[in-house]
Amino acid sequence: MKSDLKFFKNSKILPIDIFLQNVLYDNNHGYYTSKQPFGKNGDFITSPNISSLFSEIIAIWIISVWDLFGRPKKFNIVELGPGDGSLMKILLRSFKKFSEFDKCKKIFLYEESSYLKKLQKNNISKKDVKWIKDFKEIKKGPVIFFGNEFFDAIPIKQFRKIKGFLFEKNYRLDKNFEIKEVFRKASKTDVKLIKSFKTIKDLKFIEFPKLGFQELKKITQKIFQLNGCILLIDYGYLRSNNFNTLQSVINHKKNNLLKNLGKADITAHVNFELLKEFFLKKKLKVKNITSQKRFLENMGILERAEIIAKKMKFRDQSNLYLRLKRLLSPKLMGELFKVILAYKFKDNNFEGFK
Ligand SMILES: C[S@@+](CC[C@H](N)C(=O)[O-])C[C@H]1O[C@@H](n2cnc3c(N)ncnc32)[C@H](O)[C@@H]1O
Repeated sequence: MKSDLKFFKNSKILPIDIFLQNVLYDNNHGYYTSKQPFGKNGDFITSPNISSLFSEIIAIWIISVWDLFGRPKKFNIVELGPGDGSLMKILLRSFKKFSEFDKCKKIFLYEESSYLKKLQKNNISKKDVKWIKDFKEIKKGPVIFFGNEFFDAIPIKQFRKIKGFLFEKNYRLDKNFEIKEVFRKASKTDVKLIKSFKTIKDLKFIEFPKLGFQELKKITQKIFQLNGCILLIDYGYLRSNNFNTLQSVINHKKNNLLKNLGKADITAHVNFELLKEFFLKKKLKVKNITSQKRFLENMGILERAEIIAKKMKFRDQSNLYLRLKRLLSPKLMGELFKVILAYKFKDNNFEGFK
């Protein structure tokens, strides 16, 4: 379509990650900068919007890390891609119940979309958090980074190997304004980069989160400097494979990837094996990757639900357990979503990964 021209930004052809970055995050026309994507009236629903129990458990986990780090007087918490701010809203409410911790914590939000920042400001008071563009603002004390469905929302590159040579997928708009896939010889830099990851270098079809790794590089440097960790929860898989996992959804239904550009969400499944290799290369330690179900259950989500349910009427109880099922059931989010923790610290006794 002619209207898709704007996503090419004066280029005739673009690698798919750069093209999709424009589609999702362009300041004027991007999906995340012009539309409320979350919830029933949006296109998809994420765990913090399914149940506040999810966010309460993240709050308890963060406090348990602060405890493990020896209860430091200055403790930094960074939420990556806070969406509409639902998760942070519950975190702040939960933290207030732990007054010693509450006095030590300093909270930062890291968000690309100015539109979503406005939504976050409606949900969260400016006096409780600071929006940052640069992690240089975090100067002292250990730091926890965490993100729910952050990494899968950063566009990836795709490559195909033909007779030992790597070719990168690009998009080009033809003269009828149809978007066509074109494979072009990969740059030397990218070939070298991909070859340096043993978990993907021998695949025939490769998904590579170059933009995502650029973000994680800044984060791992900060963790290395101050001590701390990063917790990522995402839809993904455990062993590298020749998967093409790019997908688009609109109004809670699957959508053709190249249709409704700027109006549909586009994500890729996260390759957790590759993510682990990345963190290890950056000299962080990594806990065994676990599932959302095991993580939340290890952290006591069922016991917490039981306590809350006692004070509820039957109808609210059913609603609570229905939502819990969605978070925990292996066929729903329980096993499809994985949790990874990378850290720099002398102790490895983090809760949730037993
Ligand atoms: C799928 S949403 C998840 C939102 C929220 N965490 C939740 O669970 O509901 C992805 C979030 O990451 C943000 N995001 C994506 N790429 C980013 C980047 N490079 N830097 C900062 N935020 C980014 C998006 O704008 C959005 O807030």
